[in-house]
Amino acid sequence: MKMMSQDELKKIVGEKAVDWIKDGMTVGLGTGSTVKYMVEALAKRIQSEHLNITGVVTSDATAKQARALNIPLKSVDDVDMIDLTIDGADEISSDFQGIKGGGAALLFEKIVASNSRKNLWIVDQSKMSEKLGKFPLPVEVIPYGSKKLFSKFSKKGYAPTFRHDDTGQLKYTDSNNLIIDLHLKEITHPHDLAAYLAEQVGVVEHGLFLDLVNTVIVGYPDGPKVLE
Ligand code: 5RP
Repeated sequence: MKMMSQDELKKIVGEKAVDWIKDGMTVGLGTGSTVKYMVEALAKRIQSEHLNITGVVTSDATAKQARALNIPLKSVDDVDMIDLTIDGADEISSDFQGIKGGGAALLFEKIVASNSRKNLWIVDQSKMSEKLGKFPLPVEVIPYGSKKLFSKFSKKGYAPTFRHDDTGQLKYTDSNNLIIDLHLKEITHPHDLAAYLAEQVGVVEHGLFLDLVNTVIVGYPDGPKVLE
């Protein structure tokens, strides 16, 4: 069997995912290196099949790419309901719960996912795991009071780190918030943790995406597999 790089696996699932998009749909466009391939493939289909598609983006980065490819866009507030959202993920458990936010876009991603009739995730095989927690859990927090939250998470044993960008500066999200990554190793009760995080003052959103998805396309060296 031909060895495929992680990037090639991302490409095959990105290209496969556009099969779910039908003419007339409002489509949520996720964020990340896997979604980039899906957005490229969608733009090609729109052009070659003259599809009437409205995109709803989840980040400034995806908006920039979609605009450059002439995909018509609307805000989530200006559409009735999103028919289908296609997004990547950082880790997916065997029962289809997920961690997202590796690209710091979790807030808009969750808003768009929560307003979608169907959510579809596209990942390469490395993202699948039995239980969540190997990937650090991103928590988007308001800068004011973020050190207090950091200490609270430390005391709970969550091993927090503030996210930095490539230049070593604190990473600010599209909404000018900060990200605290929790290094949990294993998340045994994701719903309890999600409830705890959601009630902390200063937490804007967390990267646990629970009970949102029922279709995942996983890239394996022998091709994409659809899990439902
Ligand atoms: C961004 C995300 C991405 O979907 C996630 O990080 C996966 O990205 P990639 O496809 O680049 O591996 O949640 O906030």
